[in-house]
Amino acid sequence: MDMKIEGLQDLFEVELKYAYDCEQKLVDKGLPEMIEAAQSPQLRTALQQHLRETHGQLSRLDQVFSATGIERDTKGNAILKEIMSAAKDSASHIDQSPLRDAALIANGNQVEHYEIALYGTLVAFANQLGLQNVVSLLEQSLKEEKEADAKLNQLAQTINVSATQQSRSARV
Ligand SMILES: [Fe+2]
Repeated sequence: MDMKIEGLQDLFEVELKYAYDCEQKLVDKGLPEMIEAAQSPQLRTALQQHLRETHGQLSRLDQVFSATGIERDTKGNAILKEIMSAAKDSASHIDQSPLRDAALIANGNQVEHYEIALYGTLVAFANQLGLQNVVSLLEQSLKEEKEADAKLNQLAQTINVSATQQSRSARV
């Protein structure tokens, strides 16, 4: 279903449906697969925590659909699909190890940045459209995505060191 975009409200709807699609795919497959593929207990815990948050983000989007009267629907696009397929590659091309964890963190950062872009846009559009009743819901999810990104960066500091040592010892 291709709708004609005639105003900012339409753009808001499109981005909202991208976000709904994105969170659904992350809950159904994206995050569970990354958790399964990760080796570091700290990385697994962080991803599990974000999976719980993502359930909450989905229900916030449900609330946004209800509050705005926009039809609850998903709209798939290539961006998340590509990032998720890169995460699949990390799992299938690299043995379970700190090196794979480093790759999974890179994939995770890319997902978070896409979501930060989505929610940042949604917050700006909602503000402009005077949808004050949904701004704080969207802001809350935006904050969680930024925190998840920061947590991955923090974990990368030690995991990247282990990944470097791993590559060195593999060459000896
Ligand atoms: Fe999310």
